[in-house]
Amino acid sequence: MRKNILITGASSGLGEGMARQFAAKGCNLALCARRMEPMQALKADIEASYPNVKVFIRELDVCNYPQVFEVFRAFQQDMGSIDRVIVNAGMGKGASLGTGYFEANRRTAETNFIGALAQCEAALEIFREQNSGHLVTVSSMSAVRGMPRAINIYAATKAGLRTMSEGIRADVLGTPIKVSCILPGFILTPINKDLKKAPLRVDLETGCKALVKAIDKEPAEAKVPAWPWVPMGVVMKFAPLKFIAKMT
Ligand SMILES: NC(=O)c1ccc[n+]([C@@H]2O[C@H](COP(=O)([O-])OP(=O)(O)OC[C@H]3O[C@@H](n4cnc5c(N)ncnc54)[C@H](OP(=O)(O)O)[C@@H]3O)[C@@H](O)[C@H]2O)c1
Repeated sequence: MRKNILITGASSGLGEGMARQFAAKGCNLALCARRMEPMQALKADIEASYPNVKVFIRELDVCNYPQVFEVFRAFQQDMGSIDRVIVNAGMGKGASLGTGYFEANRRTAETNFIGALAQCEAALEIFREQNSGHLVTVSSMSAVRGMPRAINIYAATKAGLRTMSEGIRADVLGTPIKVSCILPGFILTPINKDLKKAPLRVDLETGCKALVKAIDKEPAEAKVPAWPWVPMGVVMKFAPLKFIAKMT
């Protein structure tokens, strides 16, 4: 079992939900995000329910790149080793290009791609030294095709993350370092609660149980929940752009 797990973006949504699921399995947790208050409450909750589980929390802005390396190192010291890193922090602000929202699109690109790159670099430095570890990247089903409007740049970053994950996997193939890229479908969290369309969305607990089950199998890639997102992935890949344009 991967005992010591680092999760970024743990102050909300999937990060918080996965932390609860891994704690129930007896894993120690290193949790980070920009907002400390929700993580303090989460730590107290988990430690009260599972007295044998250790929870470490630290403030981290994944766009503060030197801080990413410092915080990951500090967590390694806290826990002795890191067995799994889940690159989960992300955001989804944006709008159609050419409509005056460059700042929101840029911020999403930077957080979801360069921020993820920094997290993968910091994780792999540690894993290469340890000669072990499981890197998990949280991409999205939106990575499968180009998406319009508010999620154009979001989908582009998730496609980039998916490709980067496969490249890392190619790099460490045949070593004890494992890499999994997870493509969630819609799971209800603050990132999508206001979307006009979120087809086939599941509740947070169902989604996080499915995520943790998929991650523990350490696949190269997983669409989660598998039903309906595995067949939807095939539909999305081959559907005419007219269909994709109406999805969200
Ligand atoms: N929910 C879905 O349906 C779905 C589907 C596909 C993929 N995903 C991906 O799943 C991941 C988690 O999203 P979510 O749905 O759980 O949304 P969420 O509830 O909004 O959570 C996003 C998390 O990322 C953190 N974060 C955002 N910007 C950050 C930054 N600059 N530095 C550090 N942490 C940052 C937030 O913490 P702070 O604000 O406290 O920093 C928060 O904990 C994202 O990568 C998202 O793209 C979600």
